[in-house]
Amino acid sequence: MARMRLGVLASGRGSNLQALIDSSRDGRMKADVVVVISDVEAAQALARACDAGIDARFVEPGPKRAYLSEEAEGAIIGLLDEFKVDLVCLAGFMRILGPRLIRHFKWRLVNIHPSLLPAFPGLNVQRKALEYGVKFSGCTVHFVDEGVDTGPIVIQAVVPVLEGDTEEKLAQRILKEEHRIYTEAVNLFGEGRLKIDGRVVRVLPERSRDAGSDGN
Ligand code: GRF
Repeated sequence: MARMRLGVLASGRGSNLQALIDSSRDGRMKADVVVVISDVEAAQALARACDAGIDARFVEPGPKRAYLSEEAEGAIIGLLDEFKVDLVCLAGFMRILGPRLIRHFKWRLVNIHPSLLPAFPGLNVQRKALEYGVKFSGCTVHFVDEGVDTGPIVIQAVVPVLEGDTEEKLAQRILKEEHRIYTEAVNLFGEGRLKIDGRVVRVLPERSRDAGSDGN
């Protein structure tokens, strides 16, 4: 079976991107990162892609801070199609995607978020978790729909919030789990084991691959 082709969108540090590259290269993930796209020219994620010999592209995002311009969105769709991407992974991509891109990659677009959704969507979520006083937090891989961090949940991991935690300490503990579950989610997708049923993602057992993943 051909290996799955991943396109990764990232705006910053790129540790999740690096985890995907590493698990692809050491055989834990049955997929290859074929293109990395960023809205930030100096993003460390682009440098990581270059170091790994992966195509790295900057797309000028346009004037709005939180959104992509129509041109930028068109350029990103064009690149992902040019690279024949099977699955798009958002990995710290800091702009909200428009409906055109989301519909183009319907149920082939996933995101990683550093909280146990639906708790704490949006930004600065480790701080929000500490301020709220939750005893556990974690991370979520979910399909992307047209809301912010609202799409069907693929996989989650739980981490404890410890006495004396700072935002940074909690973020690091969560990040370790992010790196593990993103690879796992990509493998489940590639094995055709994710079936979207309303807003619930059913994970099919390893052998029932015939059902595949679809949006119905
Ligand atoms: C991660 O915490 C991810 O969950 C969130 O943004 C952060 C990106 O970190 N969406 P990195 O760039 O992958 O290191």
